[in-house]
Parts: sequence; C-alpha cells; structure tokens
Amino acid sequence: MEKTRILVWDLPVRLTHWLLALSFAGAFLTAESERVRDVHVAFGYTFMALLAFRLVWGLIGTRHARFASFAYGPQAVLAYARSLATRRPLHFAGHNPAGSWAIFAMLALGIATGASGYALYQDIGGRGIESMHEGAANALLALVVVHVAAVLASSLLHRENLVAAMFTGRKRGAAADGIGRSRFAAATAAVVAFAAVALWGGAYGLPDAPPASAKPAPGGDGVHDARAKHRERGDDS
Ligand code: HEM
Ligand code: HEM
Repeated sequence: MEKTRILVWDLPVRLTHWLLALSFAGAFLTAESERVRDVHVAFGYTFMALLAFRLVWGLIGTRHARFASFAYGPQAVLAYARSLATRRPLHFAGHNPAGSWAIFAMLALGIATGASGYALYQDIGGRGIESMHEGAANALLALVVVHVAAVLASSLLHRENLVAAMFTGRKRGAAADGIGRSRFAAATAAVVAFAAVALWGGAYGLPDAPPASAKPAPGGDGVHDARAKHRERGDDS
C-alpha cells in the first residue's frame, strides 16, 4: 500500500532546514573568536530570520510542514517508541511523534539562543545573559547531535534514507498523503529574502544599536559595548 514515492517536504521546508543547519554551524564555529564577532552575529541573525520564517510556515505552509500535523501527545510518542521494537514499526509520511518533540524543542532552543544572543549584543539584560546564550547554544548543539543520530537510526529502522528525503522532499507513502506544489514559489522567495536581508543586516549592522560614533565605549574605539566588555576582560581571541 505504501510503495509509492510521494512529495512530503515542500521546497521552503527543505531550504529552511539546510540553511538553518548551515547558519547554526557557522554561528557555532565563529562563536569563540572576538575577531569574527560580526560574522557570528550575521550567522545568528540569519538563523533567527529562518526560524521566524519556519514559525510562519508552520501555520500556513503545506500539510506536513504545519505544526498541527505533527503535534503529537505523549501517548503517540510511547506507541511509536513501542512499535520500534517490533518487526513493523509505525511509519509516518511526515514527522514521526518522537521526531516531532525534538523538532519543537530545537525550535524553542533556537529562539532562546537567538533572543539571548541579540540581548547580549545590544547590551540588554544583566550579566546572566551571556551564560544563558552559551547555555542555550550548547543545549541546542546537544539536541542537534541527538537529532542527527535519531535521523540515522530511523533511516535504518524504516529502511528509508531520511536525509535524502530532506533534499528531494520525497518519501514512501500512500498517494493521498502527498502534497501539491502550490504556494512553493512565493514561500521559497520569502525564505531566500529573509535569509539574505538578515545576513546583510547582521554583516553591515542594519538592525544594530546606534552607530558606533553615537555610543562610544569608555576608553574604547567606539565599537559595541559587548565587544568592549569582552576586551576589558582581556579574553580577546
Ligand atoms: C545559531 C545561533 C547562535 C549560536 C549557536 C551562538 C553561539 C554562541 C556561543 C556558543 C557563544 C559563546 C562563545 C564563547 O565561548 O565566548 C556565543 C557568544 C556570543 N554571541 Fe552567539 N550564538 C548564536 C546567535 C547569536 C546572535 C543572533 C547574536 C547577536 C545578535 C549573538 C551574539 C553573540 C555575542 C555578542 C557573543 C559574545 C559574548 C561575549 O563573550 O562577550 N549570537 N554565541
Ligand atoms: C545543525 C542544525 C540542525 C537543525 C537546527 C535542524 C533542525 C531540524 C528541524 C527544525 C527539522 C524539522 C523540519 C521541518 O519540518 O521544518 C528537522 C528535520 C530533519 N533534519 Fe535536521 N536539523 C539540523 C541538522 C541536520 C543534519 C546535519 C541532518 C542530516 C544528517 C538533518 C536531517 C534532518 C532530517 C532527515 C529531517 C526530517 C526528519 C523526518 O523525517 O521527520 N538535520 N531538522
């Protein structure tokens, strides 16, 4: 019955997913160094813009992209987990119940990471913000590791290459579970525009604090407070 290959992930979901992964990796790799702080912030803004798009697309996107289609309760997660031990694990055209929880957690941690990073950069909030930002980013990294391991494990269990499916959009399923291609073009353009504006804004300081000259850091060269603080601590790397 489930032998047909159907389109499950629309292009905006796939594009957002891989750009999210890239901007997350970019932000992480540039997190430690003061020298490339601007690059870190540009990746961070891009990540936030993609998340914002994904939240909107979760409400108005195609069938399997909508949050309502993968909002499973604990019962469904347990039933799915139990089925994994059997010879015929439950198969889902869209996200499976366990995966769906990881996805909501990644989105929430992504928002926490982005928001705390923004607060840190704009010098909003107290001293705790820095550890909050680092903690959220590390928790998200841990979850991503679990996410990738789970994707590989369920690919084996279901004998279906889920990573390839995130590129092609196609999975095994009943024809009735497939999606059409309407609304792809406009939404794809929106993902690209969101990401490009954020990358540009992050790199050139569009949504930044007042210009450096309007807010000189004490004894510094007028760059942002967070950077000045960093320098004062003497951990310029
Ligand atoms: C995917 C998103 C992000 C990840 C994974 C991430 C990760 C990190 C990590 C791990 C650190 C700690 C580096 C250290 O050990 O010193 C850090 C620092 C920092 N992040 Fe992010 N970040 C993200 C987004 C953002 C955003 C959106 C902004 C600003 C708009 C931002 C601004 C900063 C700043 C200013 C610091 C330096 C804090 C300091 O030591 O003074 N980050 N980030
Ligand atoms: C690095 C940061 C990553 C983040 C933040 C992330 C986040 C997500 C999110 C939010 C989804 C849900 C997709 C949606 O409905 O929009 C998802 C699904 C998925 N991700 Fe990732 N991901 C990351 C890395 C990866 C990597 C490296 C791989 C490849 C090994 C991967 C493979 C997949 C697959 C195959 C799915 C679909 C799962 C399913 O069939 O239910 N992800 N990811």
